[in-house]
Amino acid sequence: MDKFVVKGGRRLEGEVTISGAKNAAVAILPAVILSDEPCTVENVPYISDVRICIQILKEMGAEVTNIGKDAYRIDPTTIDKFCVPYEYARKMRASYYFLGALLGKFNKARVSMPGGCPLGDRPIDQHLKAFTALGAKHTLSQGMIDLSADKLKGNQIFFDVVTVGATMNAMLAAVKAEGLTVIENAAKEPHVVDLANFLNSMGANIMGAGTDVIKIRGVEHLHGTTYAVIPDQIEAGTFMVAVAATKGDVLIKNVIPKHLESITKKLEKIGVNIEQFDDSIRVWVDGPLVKTNVKTAPHPGFPTDMQSQIATLLCLAQGTSIITENIWEQRFRYVDELRRMGADITVNGKVALIEGTGKLMGAPVKACDLRAGAALIIAGLAASGVTEIEDIYHIERGYDCMEGKLRALGADIEKVSVPDKAEENEAKSENDKAAV
Ligand code: EPZ
Repeated sequence: MDKFVVKGGRRLEGEVTISGAKNAAVAILPAVILSDEPCTVENVPYISDVRICIQILKEMGAEVTNIGKDAYRIDPTTIDKFCVPYEYARKMRASYYFLGALLGKFNKARVSMPGGCPLGDRPIDQHLKAFTALGAKHTLSQGMIDLSADKLKGNQIFFDVVTVGATMNAMLAAVKAEGLTVIENAAKEPHVVDLANFLNSMGANIMGAGTDVIKIRGVEHLHGTTYAVIPDQIEAGTFMVAVAATKGDVLIKNVIPKHLESITKKLEKIGVNIEQFDDSIRVWVDGPLVKTNVKTAPHPGFPTDMQSQIATLLCLAQGTSIITENIWEQRFRYVDELRRMGADITVNGKVALIEGTGKLMGAPVKACDLRAGAALIIAGLAASGVTEIEDIYHIERGYDCMEGKLRALGADIEKVSVPDKAEENEAKSENDKAAV
């Protein structure tokens, strides 16, 4: 098992380039299945969730070629399997996008119930509602979801909650369905728009992505395309907070400032300076950090995926801050780890009260999910002393070489391999035997 060892107290300075968006790439790669010709997808982040997507496509029979650091040429015309086994689906929540893509192309799909970050209950009832509305039947047996349809027909889909995954899955299933599909109460995240743009570049007919009503006219044929994934809004936000936490000064490149608006506004309220350019932003701090209140909400509100990072920053600010988590019921699990570093946070249901102490102390901690892990890195960068972060596989699911990017900005962070307990015990018993 690997861990990060972070020596705190260094200001982040210089320039960093943001990678492609994880939550767009994990939907766009399965969407290639819908094409009748090869596609090239560029600006794909080198993260484990993407590697799992690529592996699944290969297992299904697609030809996948890595052409350069962040681009893949995928030929889906050789696909001859329509199942995503548990061994892959349990590692990645986004495996459910294969349901929509396979159903949309072949009128059938078999995918294991998804895994992913432990953020509390993660139902898929709205996904199934969308597929059923389009004419599919679903069964659940042995942890596998089976979908089948004689023919997919456009329909009205009204989501009971704003859901990114179900909005994107409904688009995947509807792009070749006969007639008009109208999705209401749709999610508006940048990655929802990116998937719609990708599908339209293949010849789909999707209008209104980015608003809460998306209209899709089914088409017979989707052709090949070359498409670049948008920059990752959450990776950019994570680096913005890391710069603020170390009172640094960094130019963050390859961003879409519009996607960062809610994060930018919140950081400016805390006392962070931000200057926007066409595809980059400069972030620096030259004064005190002050308290503020945060409520997470669907886009364009403050992203839940930035909640643990901004909480870490507020531990370093003066005054009492309040964070309200409105999306996930268990997204404060990182608080126990921050408390080990001296944070003063009280959690009551979906509200966390943060008493800014202005400082944190290094300690051994564990990442409990992807964004919590990122928050602990930020805490370690700002803390006095050394922080060791275990279970960093969570972090590597969604951040492309984070430690390398931070080191280039002056951080003292390194990845250290640690034999896991089983290996250690095995080695010990071997030694004991040898010693006899
Ligand atoms: C996506 O998860 C992201 N994951 C999450 O990011 C992100 O936190 C979330 O959207 C919200 O922005 C990917 O894109 C791979 P939802 P998703 O469906 O699609 C409820 C990260 O850190 N709901 O928008 O699973 C659900 O319980 C990850 O990158 C239903 O009730 O989230 C939640 O309360 C973590 N029924 C709310 O909707 C459903 O069928 C939003 O969930 C689906 C969702």
